[in-house]
Amino acid sequence: MTGKVVVITGATSGIGKVAAEKLAGMGARMVIVARDRSRGAATLDGLRSINGSAKHTIHYADLSRLAEMRRVAAEIAAAEPRIDVLINNAGALFGSRHLTPDGLELTFATNHLAYFVVSLGLLDRLRASAPSRVINTSSDAHEKATLDFDDLQSEKAYHGSLGNTLRYGGPGFKVYALSKLCNILFTRELARRLEGIGVTVNCFHPGFVDTRFGDESGGLISWGLRAAKHLAISPEKGAETLVYLASSPEVADATGRYFFQCRPTSPTSQAQDDRAARRLWQESERLSSLVGVLPASPAS
Ligand SMILES: NC(=O)c1ccc[n+]([C@@H]2O[C@H](COP(=O)([O-])OP(=O)(O)OC[C@H]3O[C@@H](n4cnc5c(N)ncnc54)[C@H](OP(=O)(O)O)[C@@H]3O)[C@@H](O)[C@H]2O)c1
Repeated sequence: MTGKVVVITGATSGIGKVAAEKLAGMGARMVIVARDRSRGAATLDGLRSINGSAKHTIHYADLSRLAEMRRVAAEIAAAEPRIDVLINNAGALFGSRHLTPDGLELTFATNHLAYFVVSLGLLDRLRASAPSRVINTSSDAHEKATLDFDDLQSEKAYHGSLGNTLRYGGPGFKVYALSKLCNILFTRELARRLEGIGVTVNCFHPGFVDTRFGDESGGLISWGLRAAKHLAISPEKGAETLVYLASSPEVADATGRYFFQCRPTSPTSQAQDDRAARRLWQESERLSSLVGVLPASPAS
């Protein structure tokens, strides 16, 4: 990875932090996107102590807000003439429904739309650096999702039934699951639109990992996740597939795939629905006002 530039979101904690450290250790120059100033500064210090010769940099943004997603992508694009790897990894789960200032449901905005907006904002740099890679952190939680295009902002879903609450610890999990399904559909559609130009796009499930994930979700779900964490794998183990996808020559040509434990695997049939992937793309374009930035096919 020496000489490669890797942009990563959600690198101040958990899976993203370990992956950033490993990739820096392999020689990459890391460009991290952080929300929290003190965790951001500590992460940057850590990267500099691992590999001080690479000029790692940091950009701050709250990736739940459209203006921040766009600004940070523009800032990075202006600062970095080339980007070899983009890792969309920041994510969270919320026990109750919140709206962002853009009127979007918070999980959908943070976990899906930020991946979409940041990727499109850095597209020219990724294209110019081909062969380059985009990696999206998804989850096997997508298996529990129901994709309802009439309720992408989860107005109905958050009013989950008692059954959902008992089964998943609350409707927040179903909403999170939807965002992780969106990660896979987005991966497929972006891969399709970029086919043949040397920019690959893949996603992965890290396993159930002992990170800060869920600590701030609130309610029953935080309690449940905390209780279950003694069964979780370490962040080092959880970051293995991410590091593999970012660095291994074995996956240089793989694109549009979903990985688990460094191997491609099949997500649910819903996550392989290309019509749904196209529709999600159109909805995401509309919601983020990025219509037509990357056409469905080079001719269109
Ligand atoms: N842990 C698991 O078992 C598991 C399983 C499957 C998938 N995943 C996925 O793995 C990814 C990383 O999660 P993790 O387990 O490493 O959790 P984590 O320790 O909570 O890390 C989440 C990262 O995302 C950042 N983030 C969250 N909201 C943000 C926002 N609005 N703006 C900017 N950054 C934001 C956090 O920044 P701060 O430091 O500012 O909070 C942190 O760096 C997520 O996409 C998650 O869905 C996790």
